[in-house]
Amino acid sequence: MKPKVLVARAVFPEVVERLRQFFEVDDNPQDLAWSQADLIQRLQGKVGAFTTGSVRIDVALLTANPQLRVVCNMAVGYNNFDVPACTARGVLCTNTPDVLTETTADFGFVLMMAAARRITEGEHYLRRGDWKKWSYNQLTGSDIHGATLGILGMGRIGQGIAKRGAHGFGMKVIYHNRSRLTDDKEAECRAAYVSKKELLQQADHLVLVLPYSAESHHAIGAAELAQMKPTATLTNIARGGIVDDAALAHALATRQISAAGIDVFEGEPSVHPGLLKLSNVVLTPHIASATIATRLAMANLAADNLIAALTGGVPPSPINPEVLAR
Ligand code: DGY
Repeated sequence: MKPKVLVARAVFPEVVERLRQFFEVDDNPQDLAWSQADLIQRLQGKVGAFTTGSVRIDVALLTANPQLRVVCNMAVGYNNFDVPACTARGVLCTNTPDVLTETTADFGFVLMMAAARRITEGEHYLRRGDWKKWSYNQLTGSDIHGATLGILGMGRIGQGIAKRGAHGFGMKVIYHNRSRLTDDKEAECRAAYVSKKELLQQADHLVLVLPYSAESHHAIGAAELAQMKPTATLTNIARGGIVDDAALAHALATRQISAAGIDVFEGEPSVHPGLLKLSNVVLTPHIASATIATRLAMANLAADNLIAALTGGVPPSPINPEVLAR
């Protein structure tokens, strides 16, 4: 008998078919929004789960499903997993690093540029029929080339953004991270390590790429926004909750900073109503990794992890590899 697994969200049919070669698959092709209680129920008897960032794997779920052996996220971020609780119960957790790095770095750059050059504001202006004539100061924004790019969180995606800025646009790149890069990596990214305070004060364009955790909750709030230049932009492609969205809406409305590009939100898919009213913020629905090729690569990597974990193979991207050693 094949092991039973749950695919908790709709995903590429060809990936589900791949999983069916190895498992008895219960899936969610209509992408119904299951409550946590539904999820716990659907997991009964399943040894593996294919999840996305909105599927919460917590203590209550693990306790109600002691047969669960592996949870495979189709995302590089995994703040939806209680990893210590999984590890304590011998449940392997996996994610999808690397395959989305360049696509997500592209998007970070696009969103930063869209905010700085007022792209969506300009388009809305045009579509409303407000564009009657050219004028010297119409929708003037701020330059990317030659500006100072600040990066908070310097993992793979942060480094991808740094390289785009330094090599492609001649930007001066500064970063802050829990740990400093090696000299070689700093040279590759042409990036200089600074304190968080210096980063906030010096960046013309600040991009957030750090993982969400209790420590990074509201890493950018009113106090941090107050330290930024009034001409600066802020881009968040990391996770909702890293920015205090109410404080950001206030800072944008009062022009404490000039503009923002935001792809992730506290409590998404809800968006703070203050942000929705503003023209100086570009808002996108958590799509930084959303190209067909990259989403397919992410889904296949999550499937590779699930298949390997349950068929005696070596999962390519474990989060808590200590579970494998047991
Ligand atoms: C990720 O991979 O973490 C992206 O945010 C998609 O959820």
